[in-house]
Amino acid sequence: MFLLITILLALTIGAVCLKLLSQYNRHTRPLSYECPVRMDGKTILITGANSGIGKETAIGLVSLGAKVIMACRNLEKAEATAEEICRQTGVDPNQVVIVQLDTSDLESVRNCSRKIHATESRLDVLINNAGIDTGHIELSKQGYEYTFAANHVGHFLLTHLLLDWLKKSHPSRIINVSSLRHQGVSKTLSFSRAPKPGSDMYYPGLFGYDTSKLAQIFHTNILSKQLQGQDVVANSMHPGFVSSGIWYKDAYRKSVTMLLRLFGFLSSIIGRTPKDAAQTVIYMAADPDLENVSGQYFENVAISDQLSPFAKDPEMAKNMWDVSMEMCGLTKKTE
Ligand SMILES: NC(=O)c1ccc[n+]([C@@H]2O[C@H](COP(=O)([O-])OP(=O)(O)OC[C@H]3O[C@@H](n4cnc5c(N)ncnc54)[C@H](OP(=O)(O)O)[C@@H]3O)[C@@H](O)[C@H]2O)c1
Repeated sequence: MFLLITILLALTIGAVCLKLLSQYNRHTRPLSYECPVRMDGKTILITGANSGIGKETAIGLVSLGAKVIMACRNLEKAEATAEEICRQTGVDPNQVVIVQLDTSDLESVRNCSRKIHATESRLDVLINNAGIDTGHIELSKQGYEYTFAANHVGHFLLTHLLLDWLKKSHPSRIINVSSLRHQGVSKTLSFSRAPKPGSDMYYPGLFGYDTSKLAQIFHTNILSKQLQGQDVVANSMHPGFVSSGIWYKDAYRKSVTMLLRLFGFLSSIIGRTPKDAAQTVIYMAADPDLENVSGQYFENVAISDQLSPFAKDPEMAKNMWDVSMEMCGLTKKTE
């Protein structure tokens, strides 16, 4: 009995110490942002807005007066979240709209874009937030590695298809929710591996969460150059170590699922809340001082200098861009 009490006491003291230390850590400390302007009349699309950082970003932006389009794969979950957002913020239900989107499936991305073009007259901010970290080696509908397809390829196509609406609504903004984990790529990747039609997977070299998060940064930086002078800015960001649902998806191997759960448990003690993590996204979407800031990587409600050397490699970025175009069935003519 005495031993049990001692262990419990030691664990509690350990947890309290970790929590205190997390208040000072760059990836876990609390964040806040007070937007000096309202966003009435602005339309913002957020992918994966039914939970975690996306949901809190939606709450923050509708509270500023924006209309938010929640682009989600599970309509039931999205409807429940939309109701909760309206109840919590007191906004008009017309301010929160839902569109079906599975970012891992390019046909779903095309349908989502068609729906936006048919129902909306403007798009001021696109927030590519949906993400998964299950290390799946399973394939997407188009035969690509699932995590890479869901986190990067789908967003690459969605951005491409919605660019006309973003340009029309200028000044406008594109935000890619990436991750510190882009730093996990520590060698030049074979983005140019030739496609093998008829094989199981067209791009076997493109797997995993870290690669997808690096690809999102390449996407952002090339976009920002291409859009120079057009009043459309593109930036990427790292939200921190966040206690969210991302740790509670099943991975392809039991050991990886257990590891994710462990991170989930740790994040529930020391991690940032999704609400705090969303502050940087809201800042990037709304702050008037950022209207002309493009090609930057943000964290903690500020521009960050924590990009890995690989993320600054123009050759690798160009390579990734070309392969992403091909994966989406786009040609140079459609750029
Ligand atoms: N949590 C962290 O510590 C952390 C750190 C760095 C970066 N991030 C990034 O932050 C972003 C948000 O993650 P989160 O932490 O808020 O996790 P989360 O609560 O699990 O939210 C992820 C959202 O993405 C959606 N999603 C996943 N796959 C999708 C698909 N194929 N099509 C459409 N939607 C899909 C999920 O929908 P369902 O509810 O249907 O699954 C969910 O709404 C992700 O891009 C993640 O990589 C998170």
